[in-house]
Amino acid sequence: MIEAPPLPPTIELSGAWLRPLRASDADAFYAYLQDPAVTALTSYPIVTPALVEGMIERYRTRWASGELSKWGLALQDDDLLVGTCGFNESSPAHRWTEIAFDLARPHWGTGVMRQAVAAVLDWVFARDDIDRVQAFVRVDNSRSFGLLERSGFLREGCLRSYRICRGQPHDFYIYARLRSDMRALRSDRPSAP
Ligand SMILES: CC(C)(COP(=O)(O)OP(=O)(O)OC[C@H]1O[C@@H](n2cnc3c(N)ncnc32)[C@H](O)[C@@H]1OP(=O)(O)O)[C@@H](O)C(=O)NCCC(=O)NCCS
Repeated sequence: MIEAPPLPPTIELSGAWLRPLRASDADAFYAYLQDPAVTALTSYPIVTPALVEGMIERYRTRWASGELSKWGLALQDDDLLVGTCGFNESSPAHRWTEIAFDLARPHWGTGVMRQAVAAVLDWVFARDDIDRVQAFVRVDNSRSFGLLERSGFLREGCLRSYRICRGQPHDFYIYARLRSDMRALRSDRPSAP
């Protein structure tokens, strides 16, 4: 019998879930990435249907070959894709991975991505093969680095002219959250009386 390829587990959030991306998510993914506000402060190239289909295929292939990759974020009401969250590049040898996320604009400010980030951090640190989750954020993307800071990431520095965003070089902050930060945060929490 041929074994099914490994897919990420579905993770329940409040009113939403993180679930495997499907080829049929392409239209919804393209629809929200077409909103210029979603890509303006990122290094996304010009978004086309072919680019989106290729990204979904790549994310699925990475899971299937045992690498970390991205989940789809959908509301439980209709299961329509409203975001993605998960991991880009990873270095198993050096035990780090890079987190990335994007969300359809109508859902900004609802806290759903904050739940998603907390869930994927818990998931990846539970595996015991990653000690550091890092993120690169344009210095003008305060929504994104605000979310990282609320999620316990520390800013480690500024990388000048780090990425070209639609033809222009931009400075990026580097943020990271370590496995040991998770332990420190847990031990900071007040214990029950
Ligand atoms: C980055 C991005 C995902 C952040 O989304 P977001 O909705 O602002 O992030 P959060 O989930 O942390 O939501 C925080 C906001 O929700 C509010 N909120 C409402 N209910 C909440 C709840 N139950 N829990 C937490 N926050 C809640 C918070 O007060 C906060 O409001 P504020 O923005 O006025 O301070 C989104 O702006 C995006 O997709 N941007 C475009 C793509 C992008 O830049 N990606 C990152 C590239 S590095």
